[in-house]
Amino acid sequence: MHIRPLDRQDLGSVIELLAELGYNPDSGELRDRIECVLKADKHFAAVAEQDGRVVGMVNAYERPALEKPRAVIVQSLVVKSKDRRARIGKLLMASTEAWARRIGATQIVLHTQIDRQDAKAFYLRIGYHLLATSHFMSKGLDTAQR
Ligand SMILES: CC(C)(COP(=O)(O)OP(=O)(O)OC[C@H]1O[C@@H](n2cnc3c(N)ncnc32)[C@H](O)[C@@H]1OP(=O)(O)O)[C@@H](O)C(=O)NCCC(=O)NCCS
Repeated sequence: MHIRPLDRQDLGSVIELLAELGYNPDSGELRDRIECVLKADKHFAAVAEQDGRVVGMVNAYERPALEKPRAVIVQSLVVKSKDRRARIGKLLMASTEAWARRIGATQIVLHTQIDRQDAKAFYLRIGYHLLATSHFMSKGLDTAQR
């Protein structure tokens, strides 16, 4: 099992992994998103591969901020359901932490939905602690007003 950078060829695997998180972008949309992520500065996207099969992925980025030191945000982490509890998630997070150290970040932060109790147990187990609970808000933008 090894961790390697996400590649454009991973589109099909990413579709499957995102479905496990409850997201179902079509392949055209996801192709564009992968392109954006691969081109973005200070963005980390990696997959776990076992015997030529992608079994997990992680996506993180650096967030500069005014009120806080530079932190790395974990945007998504998922391991295929039948491959869980085999230390793959831990390895993906270790590779993210190594990348974060390399770019000079001093902290990793992430949001996890309150109903993802498995994820909470996992993060606590690998050394994360609960900072806060918060409302997560959004507003759709009318692109015709650009
Ligand atoms: C969360 C997730 C990534 C964990 O990946 P994983 O490969 O199964 O986890 P690991 O095998 O690396 O576990 C690392 C440690 O956490 C523990 N752990 C993992 N899942 C756990 C759970 N549900 N309850 C208790 N402990 C757990 C493991 O026992 C292991 O402990 P150890 O080092 O003492 O043996 C995986 O369950 C997943 O993809 N879940 C669905 C998606 C999700 O919730 N993603 C996070 C969204 S923010």
